[in-house]
Amino acid sequence: MSKYEVNGRLYSAEPKPGQCLRTFLRDLEVFGVKKGCDAGDCGACTVWLDGHPFHSCLVPAFRGDGRKITTIEGLSQNGKLHPIQQAFHDAQAFQCGYCAAGMMMTTASAAFDEAHKADLPHALKGNICRCTGYRSIVDALHGKKNIEDDVAGKALGASLPNPFTDAILTGKAHYTMDVAMEGMLHLKVLRSPHAHARLMTIDKTKALAVPGVVAVYTWEDVPRRLYSTALHEDHLVDPDDTYMLDNVARFVGQRLAAVIGESEAAAEAGVRALVVDYEMLPTVFMEPGAPILHDKSEVVTDNDNIFCTLQGEIGDVAKGFAEADVIHENTYSTSRVQHVHLETHGSIAYKGKDGRWHVRTSSQGPFAARGKLAYLMGIPAMQIHVFTERVGGGFGGKQEMVSEDLPLFASMKLGGRPVKWEWTREDEFIGATTRHQMTTKVKIGARKDGTLVALDVQVVSNTGAYGNHASETLAAAMASPIAAYRCPNKKGIGRVVYTNMIPGGGFRGYGASQTTFAMECAMDELAKILGMDPFEIRRKNVVRPGDNVESIWKEPSDASFGSHGIDQCLEIVERELKKGNGVKKPDGDDWLEGTGAALAMLECGPPTEHRSGAEMKLLPDGTYHLACGSSEMGNGITTAHKQMAAAVVGVRAADIDIINADTDRTPYDTGTFASTGTVVAGKAVLLTAEAMKADILDFASRHTNTPVDQCRLDIDAVICGNKRIPLSELHANGAKIDHRFTVSRRAYLSPRTIAFNVQGVRLAVHRVTGEIRILHSVHAADIGQPINPMQCRGQLDGAVAMGYGWALIENMVHDEGHMVNPQLRNCRVPAFADTPHTDIFFADTVDAIGPLGAKSQGECGINPVAPAVSNALSNATGVRFAHLPFTPDRLFSKLGGQ
Ligand code: FES
Ligand code: FES
Repeated sequence: MSKYEVNGRLYSAEPKPGQCLRTFLRDLEVFGVKKGCDAGDCGACTVWLDGHPFHSCLVPAFRGDGRKITTIEGLSQNGKLHPIQQAFHDAQAFQCGYCAAGMMMTTASAAFDEAHKADLPHALKGNICRCTGYRSIVDALHGKKNIEDDVAGKALGASLPNPFTDAILTGKAHYTMDVAMEGMLHLKVLRSPHAHARLMTIDKTKALAVPGVVAVYTWEDVPRRLYSTALHEDHLVDPDDTYMLDNVARFVGQRLAAVIGESEAAAEAGVRALVVDYEMLPTVFMEPGAPILHDKSEVVTDNDNIFCTLQGEIGDVAKGFAEADVIHENTYSTSRVQHVHLETHGSIAYKGKDGRWHVRTSSQGPFAARGKLAYLMGIPAMQIHVFTERVGGGFGGKQEMVSEDLPLFASMKLGGRPVKWEWTREDEFIGATTRHQMTTKVKIGARKDGTLVALDVQVVSNTGAYGNHASETLAAAMASPIAAYRCPNKKGIGRVVYTNMIPGGGFRGYGASQTTFAMECAMDELAKILGMDPFEIRRKNVVRPGDNVESIWKEPSDASFGSHGIDQCLEIVERELKKGNGVKKPDGDDWLEGTGAALAMLECGPPTEHRSGAEMKLLPDGTYHLACGSSEMGNGITTAHKQMAAAVVGVRAADIDIINADTDRTPYDTGTFASTGTVVAGKAVLLTAEAMKADILDFASRHTNTPVDQCRLDIDAVICGNKRIPLSELHANGAKIDHRFTVSRRAYLSPRTIAFNVQGVRLAVHRVTGEIRILHSVHAADIGQPINPMQCRGQLDGAVAMGYGWALIENMVHDEGHMVNPQLRNCRVPAFADTPHTDIFFADTVDAIGPLGAKSQGECGINPVAPAVSNALSNATGVRFAHLPFTPDRLFSKLGGQ
């Protein structure tokens, strides 16, 4: 037996043949070693071998024999954080935290010297963070402290640290897969190699004969119930067009069979041993006369592949265009991209000692997932417990029930044994969802002075094989970006079409990103035709308080201005771009320089139902416990919720313990998506904390015979007249008469307030090679009162970085439905070197609708980035780039030889 020294502890163990060090360490229950790719691209698995950092997924496990292996769990000594851990703590250099272990193992090593620190683009090449935009990581490496002290009564507006910081930074925080369970089984799926095919037969014989394979399930074994994988409060907004396992494959990557094994290797071997006979079917990629993809009459309309059409008109658009002095028309298209949350999808299902079914999962909507699981399995929802532990990023990709159903089904069939399904990175690229590819035609008419008089927007959204989120993203696409501008005559038509592509889904910006790109490019082009300043035309036409917030529908909207900070945002970005940052374009005539800006409007929350609940208790020791149903996946919502509650009851945020996203232990929450974490779940927290305070004061008043208006809540006591009663004593007195000091409140979405973001870009583009360098990036956000300014800035940093990724480098390349680059190194997301520094500013607004003056902040920052880049490119080159992404080959084909 070989000996392995891991974090100073000796293990006698033998790796499996071919096993990499990453999975070997995790088999030893060293869970601080994460997986983002298993291909050497992300660095989440970084460990030290004799003090040198390695991507453990690339190291054969046997090479660790006789070496000193150090993981994040071994970095701190004698309970004291390593200086790098302390620096990450002070700068809060993480959001979901999933990359943090790898980042710290890279940067804490002796090899990471001053020269590395001075050259971070190279030094951090092997470590990807999808959440932060890297700024807070730079702050940590430069010793910057971003956190403030947690002072009782001053939690609101303070940059307080994430409550799970120490656990995350020491590897003690457990993500979905970080658990060992007795008798764990492993699930792997066969994914379709064809874009459209019927399964004639699946022969399981050889798969079942593979040692360690315990079961194989196909469409004939699972419940035949149609559903949608999308998670929403109202399930009717998504078409029921999906089966758990189907006998028709409609995209390359669709799951077709599930194999359960005693080990992952056995399950994988079982998948490879399946013998499938396919009947090829004609494929549909948006051509006229294409065959029908879903033969379910309730799903498609008019016997074609158009799943849904949204249209409307206000005013008289034909008359508006007739009166216009100038008309501009162009077509813009946006690309399909993947969320690439560093923690892939994964779930573990098992039967508990209570006889119920438990599903531990990485989800943005555990309650909605539970509802779908109950429907699919045909059992009451109360028989199912769905919970998250720590979720490693979501960005909308986990607003989908895609990894929970098969493990639960398998566990139910296999006597309740735990069944785990952990997705690979390739699973994510070919089997999860993407941003909807949309093509948008904009026709816009204006008077000579720039006043808009007519607007016509036509959108085609390619939802791929299934319609999850299709109608809602289309509705979002046709809402805020069009409503952002005053215009008496607007019309639009949007269609969602089925094709044999990977399905679209929810993704930060949720449809609005796509049409914001089109609208903001069109506004710039119109300004150019009119000879107007791009900021001026926006100022002239942007909606203002008192205007109807209307897109193309006559029905009144529930969105209105709780505050209005767009003028400030435009002014800030214009000022900063004019002021400049001193970064010059590279020398040479081939480098062209240009500046551009774009705005984005966000109705805070979805137009459909959304609700959240919170529960708060006073604990026997006089501190508080808060339970909230919303998920924390790096959006910082648990920190914000603690701060909101602490502000009301006047304590430190640290005096409030919190749990979240657990269908047994927290109140109902629709899900953490669509910019609702602050404005809906936060409102529930606020109402609950106010009720808690009222309950304490009321009890204290009665207990002391003091009028309630002479009672006030202090940090750890109630003061009634001249009596001071410690909260612990009050709790004890309550317990004597069964007064539990437990309150719960719910919040609903409507009415919705409105937020704005403005992005400014100055760039240099090489007219021969098509290389783009961002020279100056400025972002201003109108998010109301920031609950936690550091977190808000971090969310915007991450959103803007994601916007640059979408605009410049992320590119899922498909050939007849086959993704040809399903690896992180080929379908890239921004690494450190790809991510420009962005100066983030906040408008000074206090919202009258959002809780404690706050609005949504994590989502909309992405929306104005790509159009700002396009506008800057147009300014630099005189050429409009209307199709994302702006890769060098595309630029070269238009600029080459200019
Ligand atoms: S998991 Fe090893 S580099 Fe990504
Ligand atoms: S904090 Fe870096 S991936 Fe989430």
